[in-house]
Amino acid sequence: MKINVNGKDIEALEGEMLLSVLKREGFDIPTLCYLEGMAPSGACRVCVVEVEGQANLMTSCSLPVTAGLKVKTHSPRVINARKTVIELLMGSHPDDCLYCDKQDKCELLALARKYGVTKRRFPTISRDINMDVSGPSIVRDPEKCILCGKCVRVCEEVQKVGCIDFSMRGFKSRISCAFDSALNVSSCVNCGQCVTVCPTGALMENNSIEAVKRALESGKYVVAQHAPAVSVSLGEEFGLPLGKDVDGLMVSALREMGFKAVFDTSFAADLTIMEEASELAERIKNKGKPPMFTSCCPGWVKYLETFYPGMIDNLSTCKSPHQMLGAVIKSYYAKKEGIDPKDIAVVSIMPCTAKKFEIKRPEMKGGDFEDVDLSLTTRELARLINIFGIDFKNIKPSQADLPFGERSGAGKIFGASGGVMEAAVRTAHYLLTGKELAELKFEQVRGLKGVKKAKAVIGGKEIKLAVLSGLGNAKDFLDSLEKGLEEADFVEVMACPGGCVNGGGQPFSQNKKAVSERARALYEIDSAEKIRVSHANKALKTLYKDFLGKPLGEKSHHLLHTSYKARATKDR
Ligand code: SF4
Ligand code: SF4
Ligand code: SF4
Ligand code: FES
Repeated sequence: MKINVNGKDIEALEGEMLLSVLKREGFDIPTLCYLEGMAPSGACRVCVVEVEGQANLMTSCSLPVTAGLKVKTHSPRVINARKTVIELLMGSHPDDCLYCDKQDKCELLALARKYGVTKRRFPTISRDINMDVSGPSIVRDPEKCILCGKCVRVCEEVQKVGCIDFSMRGFKSRISCAFDSALNVSSCVNCGQCVTVCPTGALMENNSIEAVKRALESGKYVVAQHAPAVSVSLGEEFGLPLGKDVDGLMVSALREMGFKAVFDTSFAADLTIMEEASELAERIKNKGKPPMFTSCCPGWVKYLETFYPGMIDNLSTCKSPHQMLGAVIKSYYAKKEGIDPKDIAVVSIMPCTAKKFEIKRPEMKGGDFEDVDLSLTTRELARLINIFGIDFKNIKPSQADLPFGERSGAGKIFGASGGVMEAAVRTAHYLLTGKELAELKFEQVRGLKGVKKAKAVIGGKEIKLAVLSGLGNAKDFLDSLEKGLEEADFVEVMACPGGCVNGGGQPFSQNKKAVSERARALYEIDSAEKIRVSHANKALKTLYKDFLGKPLGEKSHHLLHTSYKARATKDR
């Protein structure tokens, strides 16, 4: 069908919402509550347009197109209405922009500038609600909340955690946890997906920038490690193309800041695969209880502990890769370099907010020290680079330090949903048959679909595999599993839709292609790699020969494996 926008005829499809058509055709329509792919809520009203024959302005996100619809997107009336909406939102918003963590990424501030809001039109009315800084991963500042409802919908409809909701009425309306409890005692799993959609600074990661600066000034031997998905997304913060691998630039920047050594967490992803594939092989040989769930995503682990405690035995006992690397840095590396482990501080740079919670889990303390001392998100690293005045785009690239700078292609693809599965199958095949897979690429588990199922034949046995991303998909799968409607031997679960490339700590992006470009970059890095299987990583072989012994051995058990606990409401 045809509709007319600003005097121009354009094509639209039956059932489409006007906003989708306008966006596709490149019209610049502001939105604050719109979530692509989800039903419109019509909460913010900044997307209004003038529709011929209608007395009132209409919200384009919730207006289904009809043949012959005539619309004006930027008439004086529309522009003034949008400006008034923004001014009203600013009326109950603190003038905190100078000190706000969201700073130049705030969508409300950007719209205020765009629509020429230069002074306060309505008196400030504080809602007088305290900040919630109780959570290890997420900080909530309800005063900055514009009640767009995106966080509630993502937590409820995408993640199916439902730990936050609207409460109170009228001017007192707010977003809160059940019984107005603090986030640290709620069922929040720290995934940060709400943070990625919040248009203001009302939801942010629990900032660790000052703590890292203090560590760097402390005289300690401060070591950095970076997760696979960080190098393919950090460049976005510096205006580089989507999916650009900035590994070398990032390593040099970290050194310039004063980190004594920079390691690649992908090395520990290889280590995780050795331990996890061995665990899977053992379970298969000993006819253990299927399925085995991956355990490298702390958001998923907390979700299972909270909502499906009866399945805790199905979780791999492997720590996540950055915890494993922290543990070997403070044991093997410390001894090798003659450094007292208490003088080492490990900072991990992750695409993730849940890692901030994970590093403090008492169950992670295999040795005398915490494996990882501080965890930064990709976004925080970008800010730290700017604080240090580093000319990121023009710095001379360099390589990560040895021995933990060496990695396989399999270790790098951990950052995309399906990557852990693909890496594990490559190594499990070798461990069970003594032979390499003829074809390393495992197409069925690649891509951004939230549920992927596949089969692999390893050592003559058919193994049923499932790859789930987004906790809502995990929930549906677990429910079916409990009812006997699903069967699987090995299941990879990532809390964030699409995996860590779309993690809660990744750059805020309005570009829908960002996540797929980050994932594409990881697979490209893998395919160009000489060593593409974890078990062929030479530094890893040395680590086992000189220190760990063998996968699932006593030292590995002590340093690299952990336990889980069912979570009651009080310690959720
Ligand atoms: S961090 Fe995840 S679980 Fe917690 S409130 Fe946000 S979306 Fe929900
Ligand atoms: S916290 Fe953020 S995402 Fe949630 S309702 Fe408020 S402004 Fe919207
Ligand atoms: S999917 Fe990745 S980024 Fe998201 S919670 Fe899990 S580990 Fe963190
Ligand atoms: S984006 Fe349409 S009402 Fe908010």
